[in-house]
Amino acid sequence: MTNAADPAVVVVTARPDPGGLTRLFAAPALALAEGSQALAALARGAADLVVVEDRPGLDAVALIRALRLRPHLAHTAILLIADDDPAETRRRALEAGATDVVLPPLDASDLALRGRNLIALARAQGAVESQARTLAREVERAAAESQEREREIIRRLMLAAEFRDDQAGDHLTRVAGCVLAIADGLGLSEEEGNDIALASTMHDIGKIGVADSILRKPGPLTEPERFEMMQHALRGYQLLHDSPSRLLRLAAEIALTHHERWDGAGYPQGLKGTEIPLPGRITAVADVFDALISARVYKPGWPLERARRFLEEQSGAQFDPDCVAAFLSRWDDVVALVEERPADRAA
Ligand SMILES: [Fe+2]
Ligand SMILES: [Fe+2]
Repeated sequence: MTNAADPAVVVVTARPDPGGLTRLFAAPALALAEGSQALAALARGAADLVVVEDRPGLDAVALIRALRLRPHLAHTAILLIADDDPAETRRRALEAGATDVVLPPLDASDLALRGRNLIALARAQGAVESQARTLAREVERAAAESQEREREIIRRLMLAAEFRDDQAGDHLTRVAGCVLAIADGLGLSEEEGNDIALASTMHDIGKIGVADSILRKPGPLTEPERFEMMQHALRGYQLLHDSPSRLLRLAAEIALTHHERWDGAGYPQGLKGTEIPLPGRITAVADVFDALISARVYKPGWPLERARRFLEEQSGAQFDPDCVAAFLSRWDDVVALVEERPADRAA
């Protein structure tokens, strides 16, 4: 599409009276004698139509090719007024990107008609393209908004779940931060890391089905209570897995697999090694680490170094060694995160 300041038509002609040509198109026109002038005039600005009148001494085909190489002239019609050897010139001009070729003898009314049609076509194409760009921008904005809303709802849901669970305030935030650190250490993309981190906040969502008397029980759990507690992994999965949202399906996978162990001794499926989906393996490290440094009704929070040693000892047993290595490679970030949002250490 042309700007208001651009000529609608650029005519390359060596006629002493170029007005005879330019007036034909009934649009603002600029007549230039040389191809180089046309290239300069169209270096940035666009035009709806470029008319090149072929003549000895002008390489019309080269000019057309040079114009076509410019992306901002993609919708500019290029019309060649052939000089002689029409068949060969026509073929080469069309190959070079000319929209149409007018053959001698020149018929002014035919040229005017074709020129005006080409201008109308170029403008329509430009308008359609600009509309498509506007639409694409709107779709992109709407998608970003709906994604942001989805994330917002998940965060608030998690806040609600955290209120009920006895675990001190920032557990989910710290787990998400540790997940990010591990994903980063593993070389995952920022987008993947962010998705897993947000989805990881739902790992214990299945606990909403566990009775308070078990969830908040200060002493050790009986075997049936422990069994009931373990159901939270499957319940979380059942709650989320059939969602149309990719993020919630990822959360379902994490809910189901965050208590699996690398050595196969975890639950609920007893998956082993890489049978456990990576988001579950990452969350397992982050979740256990934060559980260790946080106080529980039955234990005080561990010092960071002790929790670190535990991860090192359990690397390859409870945890994926790559995830542990990735976590330790971002240890300074983890320490900073915990200092910023300290866990409640007192029992
Ligand atoms: Fe859990
Ligand atoms: Fe947790």
